[in-house]
Amino acid sequence: MKRKIVVANWKMHPPSFREAKKIFTAVTRSVSRMKKTQVVVCPSALYLSGLKSSYRGSKVLFGSQDVSHLEEKTGSYTGETSAYQFAGSGVTHTIIGHSERRALGETDTRISQKVSSACAARLSPILCVGERARDDQGDYLVFLRKELQLGLAGVTEKDTRKLIIAYEPLWAIGKSADNAVTPDALRQTVLFIRKTLVDLFGRKHGVRIPILYGGAVEPANAGTLAAVEGVAGFLVGHASLVPKDFTSIVRAIDRS
Ligand code: PGA
Repeated sequence: MKRKIVVANWKMHPPSFREAKKIFTAVTRSVSRMKKTQVVVCPSALYLSGLKSSYRGSKVLFGSQDVSHLEEKTGSYTGETSAYQFAGSGVTHTIIGHSERRALGETDTRISQKVSSACAARLSPILCVGERARDDQGDYLVFLRKELQLGLAGVTEKDTRKLIIAYEPLWAIGKSADNAVTPDALRQTVLFIRKTLVDLFGRKHGVRIPILYGGAVEPANAGTLAAVEGVAGFLVGHASLVPKDFTSIVRAIDRS
């Protein structure tokens, strides 16, 4: 069982399947040497099956960037893709509640339904939480706790085996390494998230849930952030589209 996880969130990139293959080829080649780290690539849903069938022996796993909140396997729901459909195409993970989806109107209730539908289909939900801004009074911690409580409302103790949390402060996303969280602030926030998970699911289950960090992770800060106690890996946005940068980020985690 690999202990560390790095998730590549390709968002709405690249513009063609040909380019997606080019990035994936480079990534799969270099990460095949990593010993401790599981890499999960989340491309556009349109490229998932093609990439999966083109790279059968790859050690890289696939995730979707979103999933339907509906628990049915199939149905008359135009535009929706069920968790079962993703699972049936070899997808193992799904990002849920990314701030860019919340900005498009996704509510905590919808997010909690998505987490439940992922669990029902045995996908690993990667629940994203993160504050818009930090403050001295600690209001952002109250906000984080609430996001966790609401997003995980339908999760059972058994479901926690597949659950992954990604801490992604909105103020860091899409920025460069200088704007990422500091190691000390990250350590404290991860500790706070861990405490909340233990409160929600009990010690036995709460301590096992991996907590990733996402937001401006680049080769320049990957080593320092990877060394922060309690960080099980990264969720990487823009740097995941540059194979050289992504590889050096995965290497930083693998060595930590
Ligand atoms: P970033 O994005 O690495 O480009 O900051 C992270 C994310 O949005 O998941």
